[in-house]
Amino acid sequence: MSESPRINHTGIAVRDLDVAVRTYIEALGASLSDRVDVPDQGVAVAFLTLGDTQIELVQPLSTDSAVARFLERRGEGLHHICVQVDDVRGELDRLASQGHELIDREPRHGAHGLVAFVHPRSAHGVLLELLERE
Ligand code: CO
Repeated sequence: MSESPRINHTGIAVRDLDVAVRTYIEALGASLSDRVDVPDQGVAVAFLTLGDTQIELVQPLSTDSAVARFLERRGEGLHHICVQVDDVRGELDRLASQGHELIDREPRHGAHGLVAFVHPRSAHGVLLELLERE
């Protein structure tokens, strides 16, 4: 039985991962479940469990990463919403055939599975991450 699609996590762009992790633990009682560098994307991420969902804090590791440009333009804040799907390639094909604008036409390996991003222009201003858990 499929439990997809569902929101897997909300991504927040931050300047200092340690400070942000402490804030979310102290302010919300979230618990740190994972912390990894994703050199591919030039970011360090921390996942915090909050009830039955997660918050992903994302800090750029290099000034030319997409998240670094995001912070420069918009400052810290909501960066993306991640929707968990059963078949990320199938979803990309379906969205492309409906004329949606994709950032990734092919999924790549993220921290927890295959991921692909849909452009905010196709989702009313919000960057969407599709995740197929591995
Ligand atoms: Co994410």
